[in-house]
Amino acid sequence: NEVENGVVGWQSPSNIALVKYWGKRDPQLPENPSISFTLDACRTKTKMYYSPKIYPGNSLSFDVYFEGEKNEAFKPKIFKFFERIEEYCPFVRNFHFKIETENTFPHSSGIASSASGMSALALCLMSVEKELVGDMTEEFFNKKASFLARLGSGSACRSIEGDLIVWGEHDHIKGSNDLFGIQYPDTVHPNFKNYHDTILLIDKGEKQVSSTVGHDLMHGHPFAKNRFLQAHENLSKLRTILKEGDLEGFINIMESEALTLHAMMMTSNPYFILMKPNTLKVINKIWEFRKETGLPIGFTLDAGANVHILYPENDSVRIFQFIKDQLVEYCQNGHYICDRVGAGASRL
Ligand code: PMV
Repeated sequence: NEVENGVVGWQSPSNIALVKYWGKRDPQLPENPSISFTLDACRTKTKMYYSPKIYPGNSLSFDVYFEGEKNEAFKPKIFKFFERIEEYCPFVRNFHFKIETENTFPHSSGIASSASGMSALALCLMSVEKELVGDMTEEFFNKKASFLARLGSGSACRSIEGDLIVWGEHDHIKGSNDLFGIQYPDTVHPNFKNYHDTILLIDKGEKQVSSTVGHDLMHGHPFAKNRFLQAHENLSKLRTILKEGDLEGFINIMESEALTLHAMMMTSNPYFILMKPNTLKVINKIWEFRKETGLPIGFTLDAGANVHILYPENDSVRIFQFIKDQLVEYCQNGHYICDRVGAGASRL
């Protein structure tokens, strides 16, 4: 094949897990199944320029530009990613790549960009592969993109498509598997369409615990076995909840999953508290408001202090008003991000 220079580009969203992935085994396989909403506004945009190497050698060759400037900090992570995926994309050693990437959300927001960033990179590699081998089905393209993204960052495999994605084998979810994310195949009640996620930026600092360290803490964790079983059970319960449109049941599972994730970090050794005082204040305010109004507002957390507030489209006006009036004051510099469930990645 005559190989030409070229450029490909993708924008890929972040996602928010409802049942959390926490704990893995090599090579980046989950200890339990997880499910997430694909987000819409929080995205990474990545362009990949590729050119045949002038001096063909065996080394990986790429430059990274982040928000317009040459970036060395991301290189080791991307290097490791290329090493992991080259078995499946042997062409990576034949090219020099120039990777230009930027996020739609503020750099130091405490919002993890690994899911959006790694999925965008995986999609770019698939586009290069498609240029090289000719046609492939969209299904194969998406599956392999998710498979590759997983090797970059586990949760990234849930960012290729919308709007509810399952990753990890579960007995009652057809097609679910540990290698790539799939679109949730069962019935979803309209209550869950256009769900909102308002992200309160409580603490924009660097993460105290990288997710690699976090997942590792589940090895030999005293509660690991029960936690993994619980994730399977919560996913089973969620199937019924999603089908029936049971918002109360949904909030119960989602909040319990968030607190369990943090409980795992508090009960590992070494132990971590990733919530901040304002995280707890916000949680208590949400609970008070829910009790007073009966409105279906709920929260979830990632491995950090920021709070994701999830609520349905139908009640979004009243709930958002409450967030603005009573919760934004707990955010660092008053910053928050209005996001919602989205349809997945798209070409640039
Ligand atoms: O993809 P990783 O290795 O960064 O793990 C992310 C794990 C959580 O965000 C805490 C939970 C999840 O399922 O997304």
